[in-house]
Amino acid sequence: VANVQELAQTCNRSDEQVPERYIRADANTEEVITDYGNTSTIPIIDLSKLYDPQSSHEECAKLGSACQQWGFFQLINHGVPDEVICKLKKDIADFFNLPLETKKTYSQLPNNLEGYGQVFVVSEKQKLDWADMFYLVVRPDEARDMRFWPAHPPSFRKSIDTYSSETAKVARCLLEFMAKDMGAEPASLLELFQGQPQGLRMNYYPPCRQASKVLGMSPHTDASGLTLLLQVNDMPGLQIRRDGKWFTVDALQGAFIVNVGDVLEILSNGKYTSVEHRAVVHPNRERISAAVFHRPCQDAMVGTLPELLKEGNSKARYRSMSYMEFMKRYYSAKLDGRNHLERL
Ligand code: SIN
Ligand code: FE2
Repeated sequence: VANVQELAQTCNRSDEQVPERYIRADANTEEVITDYGNTSTIPIIDLSKLYDPQSSHEECAKLGSACQQWGFFQLINHGVPDEVICKLKKDIADFFNLPLETKKTYSQLPNNLEGYGQVFVVSEKQKLDWADMFYLVVRPDEARDMRFWPAHPPSFRKSIDTYSSETAKVARCLLEFMAKDMGAEPASLLELFQGQPQGLRMNYYPPCRQASKVLGMSPHTDASGLTLLLQVNDMPGLQIRRDGKWFTVDALQGAFIVNVGDVLEILSNGKYTSVEHRAVVHPNRERISAAVFHRPCQDAMVGTLPELLKEGNSKARYRSMSYMEFMKRYYSAKLDGRNHLERL
């Protein structure tokens, strides 16, 4: 499929309409809201308060309720140094600004998501997202395929590496507090995430004159355990589904947008919720975002954490399977629009 950054330039220069495959009948049929009840933002969680004995208990309850009620929150005072974030943001923006020929050096290979390109296209009829992406497996170290790691800009590899270890630390902390909130053993949850498998997905959404008729990213839930998102050029565009409406999410300066993925929903036996979300685009400004996905190991069993089933009256609500099998179901269910979560 086409490179969307280039397509956007062509459409703009020649005053052309956006190709039919990008036009979505469903892009804006549902109501979009910026306020829900009395709030205009997803919950804000302060990581430093989780660590402070004075406030830890209360903040942990707040974290739990955000994961249950929203599946999304903003994380502030997360301890990742500003310089690390700024450097990564700059390198990502510089990368997408490189000439197409240079970026193509890192193109995806057939049937593989890793590299520069677009999301999987599985049928001729499938509508396309108005975005390019660049996906890398970053952790564990030995899973890295350096062919895809860009040599331009020169500091990119280093900044990805640093950002990756910093965010992996944050994810680990969050998982630990989430386990506490769920009433599970932190060690048993963390064991499933051993080696801290992590993927980095950088998204480039070009401006689109027909912005309200296209989508930057189709509605989906994340297959990961926990996702941390950075708005690289501080442009909003993320929307989450709430009571059948799309709620527009923005982030405070320096905050991460964190969301519960399918795996955490299953591990928590449905206490936490993996919420559907999508990305919209702007009529005349580009948007760049970067998500790190924290996943369990391939052979980890994804099912209700055993501690949560100890009380006699609780039953597992999802069929348990290895993460590898879960991923197969995630992708194959997408093909025919089934739900990939196998509820019991
Ligand atoms: C996503 O990763 O689900 C979309 C993130 C975004 O670009 O806001
Ligand atoms: Fe997502």
